[in-house]
Order: sequence, then structure tokens, then C-alpha cells
Amino acid sequence: MSDQMRYDGRVAIVTGAGGGLGRAHALLLASRGAKILVNDLGSSAKGDGADMGPADQVVAEIKAAGGEAAANTDSVVDGDKIVQAAMDAFGRLDILINNAGFLRDVGFHNMTEADWTDIYQVHLFGAFKVTHAAWPILREARYGRIINTSSAAGIYGNFGQVNYSTAKLGLHGFTQALAVEGRPRGIHVNTIAPAADSRLTRTVMTPEQLKNVQPDRVSPLAAWLCHESCNETGGLFESGGGWNAKLQWVRTKGTRVGAGEEFGPEAVRDAWGAITDFSEASNPGDFASSMAPLAEIMGNG
Ligand code: NAI
Repeated sequence: MSDQMRYDGRVAIVTGAGGGLGRAHALLLASRGAKILVNDLGSSAKGDGADMGPADQVVAEIKAAGGEAAANTDSVVDGDKIVQAAMDAFGRLDILINNAGFLRDVGFHNMTEADWTDIYQVHLFGAFKVTHAAWPILREARYGRIINTSSAAGIYGNFGQVNYSTAKLGLHGFTQALAVEGRPRGIHVNTIAPAADSRLTRTVMTPEQLKNVQPDRVSPLAAWLCHESCNETGGLFESGGGWNAKLQWVRTKGTRVGAGEEFGPEAVRDAWGAITDFSEASNPGDFASSMAPLAEIMGNG
């Protein structure tokens, strides 16, 4: 392919790259010239234990295909060690894909504090730790591409996943604010919410259902968002089986109630139709434009 997108000279960290989606992202970027730090703690699908095997195996696969990679088995909660390992191995950093994670599904009424904290630690705190260690390097280089991995469970909510849904939507808040801070420094940050066959989805879906949603159908979106020619930042994308879509916040036009008169819940009740009417909805794309109606009110008193 003459216009093949390449990542020569770029160094990428992919967390949780010992299997599933992370492995597919790592293999694709490596096949296009990126040097990869393959991070994977090698824990179980519920987050227990540790194993050197998965990271080593993906490094071996990349090398067998002629690529360059190094293995790292630190937990993402020790993100500074992961970033240091990439710098030690390759001397620079350009791309970070925060992908590591596991599930601890349980109804909220049975959820323990450990179920909540363990999921928060790996998905949100882990992404924070790796990104926080990478950030000064990317700022200094005035270049970076970061992907955070969310989930439909976070965007829409799902039974038995209060811990996971919270962390996963939190990751998009992380993306949106980082994108604002990173933009002037050439650092682009986006969120993907994938759907793919992996040990996480095999527990709830059949092999037949998962046949057409292999992880390598998501990796091209991740790779595009990580390419130097991609200007997208702060975005949220769903991806699975080759289907890709962008999400936005949708807000009703809204209406101001209680201006200049006694203002109680009755006024909100009586205006409920207008408050919740999506017929004139808009998509405020950033914080400043989201504030437009309030700015008007503040301006007019
Ligand atoms: P997976 O279980 O195959 O891969 C996750 C990897 O993360 C595993 O290899 C695991 O050893 C590693 N890991 C777990 N804890 C870690 C830690 N503390 N430090 C470093 N590595 C650690 O699962 P899959 O499906 O590939 O998941 C990848 C990401 O995509 C996860 O964040 C998951 O929540 C997310 N996701 C996956 C969906 C799917 O349909 N497969 C749907 C929505 C989100």
C-alpha cells in the first residue's frame, strides 16, 4: 500500500497488551514501525495474580514479525515504572494507550469496598499514574498521542457494573480535561469504547456472537487516533467489528424558569416539558460554549 500510515521512530506504551485489545493495538503499531513497550501484569480476568508470560509472548510475536518491542510487567498503579521502562528501552515516548483492566461485576447491593476500589485503581488511578509520568516527557517534546479505554458500560450504564461504569466514564472526563491542557503542546487525547472478543466478553457472549468482533477490528481506530496526521482530540468513539462512531453530548435548548418571581420546584415542574424537549437540542463542543446560556443570564442579571 503506497500511502500506508507509518509510525517509524515513534515509541508507544500499550498497557495490558499481553492479550485481547492491547495485544492487537501493539501488534498493529509495531507492524507499522513503532517500537512498543508491551506492558502487562498478567493478572486474571478478575484482577488476581501476576504472570510474566503474556507480555513476553507478545514481545516475541512482535520480534518474530520483524518489529521492536520490550516487555514490562509492572502494574499500571506503578505507572512511573512503566514510563521509565519505555525510556530505558527506547529513549523517548510518543504514544500511550491506557488499556489495562479487568472486571469485578456484582450487583451494587453486594458490592464490597474492595470491588469498588480495585476497579477504580486499575482503570482510573492506573491511567492517571501512567499518564502523569508520561506527561512531562510529552510536554517537553511538544508531541503526544494518548488513548484512554472506556466502555459502553460507562457511557450508558450496565447492571452489575457500577464500579466499572463509574471508572470508565471517569476516563472520558480525564480525556476531555487532558485534551484541553495538551492541545497547546501538541498532545492529543481521545477515548475509545471498544467491543471485542476477549476473555472479558467471553464470559457473557458466545463464540458465535464474538466471531466478527475480534480485537484487531478495533485497533485501526486506535492507531489512526495515535497517528501524527490525526488532529482529533478530546473525542469519544465507539468501535467494534470495524464499525466506528463518534459520540457527543446532546443538550436540550433548555429554558430559564423563575426569573424575577418566586422560584420553587413548582416552576421546574411546570417547565418540565421545555427543559426535557430535545427537538431543538445542540451539542456544546467545549466548556466555553456550554456556558453560553449562563453567560447570558449572568450578563442580564
Ligand atoms: P483482556 O483481559 O484480554 O486484557 C486486559 C489486560 O490487562 C490483561 O492482559 C491483564 O493481564 C492486563 N492487566 C490487568 N490489570 C493490570 C494492571 N494492574 N497492570 C497492567 N496490566 C493489567 O481484556 P480486553 O477485553 O482486551 O480489555 C482491554 C480494555 O478494554 C480494558 O480496559 C477493558 O475494560 C476495555 N473494554 C473491553 C471491552 C471488550 O468488549 N472486550 C468492552 C469495553 C471495554
